[in-house]
Amino acid sequence: MKKNNKILNKNRMILGVVLFLLFLPYYLFAKNDFFQGKNKDPEAILRGKAKSNLCMACHGPQGVSSNPLWPNLAEQKKEYLIKQLQDFINEDRKNSLMSPVAKTLSPQDLNDLAEYYSSLKTSK
Ligand code: HEC
Repeated sequence: MKKNNKILNKNRMILGVVLFLLFLPYYLFAKNDFFQGKNKDPEAILRGKAKSNLCMACHGPQGVSSNPLWPNLAEQKKEYLIKQLQDFINEDRKNSLMSPVAKTLSPQDLNDLAEYYSSLKTSK
């Protein structure tokens, strides 16, 4: 009996360590806002909001567009938004409405606008 308890305790300890190691990355990364793509830069959001006047006519005041051919920007991933804007600037992606607007933006503007739009929710 005593010996069994010892083995049981040892197994429990191993299980505990295994579970701890299994869930460690989850606590470190998955629950971390950075890895969920949440925005951490309130100042960039404010700067982006100020610059978004340029975009509202087509993408809506809250990043939700009223025209079915114009995409919503709200809730979109920040990195994706930056990539699309860069593509419009490089003409890897071409659109007669969007490309001229994108070409007026600096790298700082791309960051701020993407931070802002990715922080918005599509539901009102
Ligand atoms: C004159 C209308 C117009 C304005 C102003 C405008 N856009 Fe756009 N935008 C569009 C259209 C139309 C598309 C879709 C282009 C296509 O079909 O490829 C688009 C696409 C985009 C995309 C790609 C979205 C996706 O899901 O792939 C981004 C990002 C974007 N716009 C950002 C902006 C930002 C930021 C501004 C302001 C600086 C802005 N747009 C201003 C019309 C506009």
